[in-house]
Amino acid sequence: MTRIDPSSRDSFGTKFGVIAATAGSAIGLGNIWRFPYVAGENGGGAFLLIYLIFVIAIGIPVMMSEFVIGRSAQLNPVGAFKKLAPGKPWFLIGIMGVVAAFMILAFYAAVAGWTLEYIYQSVVNGFKGKSPQELGVMFDTFREGSVRPVIWFLVFMGMTAYIVSAGVKDGIEKYAKILMPILLFLLFILCIRAVTFKGAGAGLSFLFKPDFSIFANFRDATGTILEALGQAFFSLSIGMGTLITYGSYINKKDNLATTAVTVSLADTLIAVLAGVAIFPVVFAFGIDAAEGEDLVYKTLPIIFQQMTGGYIFSLMFFVLLGLAALTSTISVLEVVTAYFVEELGMVRKKATLIATLSISVLGFFTAASWGWFTNISLSGKNVFGILDFTSANILLPLGGLLIVAFIGWYFGRERVNTELSSEGNLKTRYVSVYMFIVKFIAPIAIALVFLNGFGIFKFS
Ligand code: PFF
Repeated sequence: MTRIDPSSRDSFGTKFGVIAATAGSAIGLGNIWRFPYVAGENGGGAFLLIYLIFVIAIGIPVMMSEFVIGRSAQLNPVGAFKKLAPGKPWFLIGIMGVVAAFMILAFYAAVAGWTLEYIYQSVVNGFKGKSPQELGVMFDTFREGSVRPVIWFLVFMGMTAYIVSAGVKDGIEKYAKILMPILLFLLFILCIRAVTFKGAGAGLSFLFKPDFSIFANFRDATGTILEALGQAFFSLSIGMGTLITYGSYINKKDNLATTAVTVSLADTLIAVLAGVAIFPVVFAFGIDAAEGEDLVYKTLPIIFQQMTGGYIFSLMFFVLLGLAALTSTISVLEVVTAYFVEELGMVRKKATLIATLSISVLGFFTAASWGWFTNISLSGKNVFGILDFTSANILLPLGGLLIVAFIGWYFGRERVNTELSSEGNLKTRYVSVYMFIVKFIAPIAIALVFLNGFGIFKFS
């Protein structure tokens, strides 16, 4: 039951605030840490092309669907489905979203915590004079030590909770409006530094030159295609109700379609720019670009301590990574907080505190899953790996599938049109194409990714 008075509900104050907060959620570790190495491993420019097609054809429609659900109900994901489909089991999608939020935050804030350790190491010049091997050992020792990863995780959760507890307008929106421009500025400087390196061209062509040889056989091609769709989901923050929650704070007059397009393109642009900031430097120093997920924490410090001005660039890079992660963790914590406030009747501060403490219990095991809890494992995955896999590969695609199914097959074109047109005030000539995608294309494509992630139907 919803006990809050709807007229007193908090919301975003400005259009720029909506874009900054939503882009803040989308732009995160997924763009700066994950996208560059996944693109690098999957054919560079060829991956980029497929990724772009998915963002436009599936990512944007799913994002619009979440906005439509959130804004028409003006509630958190669980309350929204209960209101829009009374007496039906659709609200379970919302419950799944809240569960996914718990799990995502528990591992995502752990990685975000590593960023704080690396900001600290940048400040104290901790990379200086270390060989590449020593820098690798430094990262492994840090993670296996447990105490520091747990402390940094808690600090990161504390920062997130501080902002979320201040509310939508005075917390989330206010900080997004400050942090996102700083993020853009830092990324811009790092890109300029990277492309002016001697030998930068090799890195740029690694990222942009399409290597279509990945399509030479069916297995590799499907693997890459599904990887691109999975990356699009995670990167756009879709499939778990984060954007239902943010959508519920968007002004009734705002254009949901243009908001979704702007945010999705900004997210893609930042992912590409992160690649531009990283690969030219990696190539200029003659380092193997296929370093995979260690690229950011093991490889980049090697470069920073060798390059002129490395001290400042290293600091800038890890601050950039931390800020990007912060505006994302805020959006995930808000899902749980909004649920506690509206469905369980708590005041915001108490809701934020309880959400943060309960997520931190799970996060404690995650942050120390290379150390104290290294013995807890399931089919070769530690606690971190289990949460990462279950949320990103199972819950997000499943959530996305159910969200589009809800919009396409239950909610219906008329109600969708009312919401997208802001009650008839905006043109929605695209709505037939949109409905076709959410009814047919998106569910089929997502079902394939879901089955692949679950391992039921393994393509790659
Ligand atoms: N989109 C974020 C990133 O790319 O880092 C991660 C994320 C945030 C996923 C919020 C899901 C979510 F609900």
